[in-house]
Amino acid sequence: DLDTTRELLLSRIRDVRDYPKPGVVFKDITPLLADPEAFSALTEALAELCARHGATKIVGLEARGFILAAPVAVRAGLGFVPVRKAGKLPGATLSQTYELEYGSAEIEVHAEDLAAGDRVMVIDDVLATGGTAGAALELIRRAGAEVAGVAVLMEIGFLGGRARLEPELHGAPLDAL
Ligand code: PRP
Repeated sequence: DLDTTRELLLSRIRDVRDYPKPGVVFKDITPLLADPEAFSALTEALAELCARHGATKIVGLEARGFILAAPVAVRAGLGFVPVRKAGKLPGATLSQTYELEYGSAEIEVHAEDLAAGDRVMVIDDVLATGGTAGAALELIRRAGAEVAGVAVLMEIGFLGGRARLEPELHGAPLDAL
């Protein structure tokens, strides 16, 4: 059941103190990825959310989001669309900038990969400030597609990502395993 899965997932996430800088506790998912049982349980739980929310397409956020979203897409029988950091996609793109604590960032998607009628699930490893996921939702809507939901492995509650994302969700679900 979900509680057993949660416990397994939690036990495979490693806290790395003072990385990438002093005072930060980095959530390292590589032990989870290296454990086939945990990795499979994670992709199954995420694929179930995609089915529950009626998704017809999966968006993954570079780079760690790709690792999760691609197997979920295969498992769910849906197409995978990468949202990449600016300058990495060769075709015609839509791009979106968003604010970071210091400065700003930009992400892009191939415009032809999303269209009206798509119901898109956004998958990532971590929701921190919510800036990245929020910009991804903007891209999806600007492409004319609909947002089915956002699903992440973990949410860093004290950074307030859920509240920042709220207005962008337009009522769509945000699930953190
Ligand atoms: C991390 C994480 C999310 C994002 C969350 O990615 O994988 O995509 O930050 O932060 P936010 O909610 O504050 O926007 P990162 O930019 O470190 O890229 P990576 O996956 O390529 O390492």
